[in-house]
Amino acid sequence: MKLLFDGIDEPGLNTLPVYERRGGYQALRKALTMTPEEVLSDITESSLRGRGGAGFRMGQKASFLPHGDMEKYLVCNADESEPGTFKDRELMQKSPHMLIEGIAIASYAAEINRAFIYIRGEYSHQADILEAAIAEAEQAGYLGQGILGSAHDLNLVLHRGAGAYICGEETGLLDSLEGKRGNPRLKPPFPAIEGLYHGPTLINNVETLATVPTIIRLGGAEYAKIGTETSTGTKVVSVSGDVQRPGNYEIELGIPSRVLIYDLAGGPPEGREVKFWFPGGSSAPVLTKDDLDLPYDFDSMAKAGSMLGSGAIIVVDDSHTVLEVALKLAKFYAHESCGKCVPCREGTNWTVKMLRRIQSGEATPMDLDLMASVQTQIIGNCLCVLGDAMAMPIGSMIEKFRDELEAEIEAARERAATGELEDVIALGVADEHAGPLPVH
Ligand SMILES: Cc1cc2nc3c(=O)[nH]c(=O)nc-3n(C[C@H](O)[C@H](O)[C@H](O)COP(=O)(O)O)c2cc1C
Repeated sequence: MKLLFDGIDEPGLNTLPVYERRGGYQALRKALTMTPEEVLSDITESSLRGRGGAGFRMGQKASFLPHGDMEKYLVCNADESEPGTFKDRELMQKSPHMLIEGIAIASYAAEINRAFIYIRGEYSHQADILEAAIAEAEQAGYLGQGILGSAHDLNLVLHRGAGAYICGEETGLLDSLEGKRGNPRLKPPFPAIEGLYHGPTLINNVETLATVPTIIRLGGAEYAKIGTETSTGTKVVSVSGDVQRPGNYEIELGIPSRVLIYDLAGGPPEGREVKFWFPGGSSAPVLTKDDLDLPYDFDSMAKAGSMLGSGAIIVVDDSHTVLEVALKLAKFYAHESCGKCVPCREGTNWTVKMLRRIQSGEATPMDLDLMASVQTQIIGNCLCVLGDAMAMPIGSMIEKFRDELEAEIEAARERAATGELEDVIALGVADEHAGPLPVH
């Protein structure tokens, strides 16, 4: 079923005439004939869950914003920094007006007159496309003063980030948007109460907002019939890693994960099999080949001990070791930790050091317990969930692949004893992000 990706490859869809010819901005026209409360109630009835990571219901979040005469903001999170996730890029590049229309409708529903799109610095091509689309929409009266002759105004500004994972975290993003270093804020207060410039702020992901025109077009109740009862609608899933046809696939939530990984993405290369997979970006605890028949939806992933997250599946086949993947992952989070809180700053770095200890033949199986306990101490104890985003998958790898890691420890110890360690150390030092091996 294609809703967001319907006609996505039509040439020129990024321009206003083609988007309008395909029915674009009709949902905004319809919304403006309704009251903001009616529009919000459609969004609420759709049960749309956020597509950026946490899966929080959009209608509920929007309802937290206070009413009344005050400066409120809508911020579209286009940072798309979660490893494995590249769906927002395709949506913005090919159908920027769908996002702009969604922002215009959501702003109307929440009585907001100022909106921002915060886009990651690396997406300069997509930012140029969005800027051109915003100018077209302003010109046509879909943005600006008195939208389509109504009393609703909306000023939409595109802001380019500088490329930091933490600026995808909503409060880090807000600080960055205010011109400060992108550090997460202590919550509460949540952005819906006190966000950008201390004003109530609705923050949603690109895909979440791009879905809003479809909800208004179909009606919230009709939209809610798609997918499962608690994971309504369709989802664009980025599938990458060891698959033959990596890419973005729009699916109805609740289809078997195997269909996504094998039928759509082609499964691992010939002769290889799925060893484990991240169902929701690199922050999600890993699942194994035994979980391939689980329905791909928010609740089934949570019940299996993981999460749907940003909807990015990373497949790892049996040509890779768990240690290799864990080290790559831990190095990413250690590099991206903003350093503001201790459990994340120290925990991510110590995890890298412990994994390197295994690699260099200096670890014992007891180090696995130590590493698992470091992960437990990170989870729930950080200012934001960046630390948890490393601790959850690493913890799951230790739990599910302990035997392999123990064997790896033994093998590395033997290599060290026979002098092969020199090669391993040389490899480690060559890695610019990890820094030198720890001295023991
Ligand atoms: C470290 C970190 C990075 C994140 N990166 C992104 C991101 O790149 N894009 C995104 O939409 N949400 C990201 N999130 C989630 C946001 O904080 C927030 O939950 C989301 O923008 C809300 O939108 P939604 O309700 O539409 O999903 C990140 C969260 C964390 C903790």
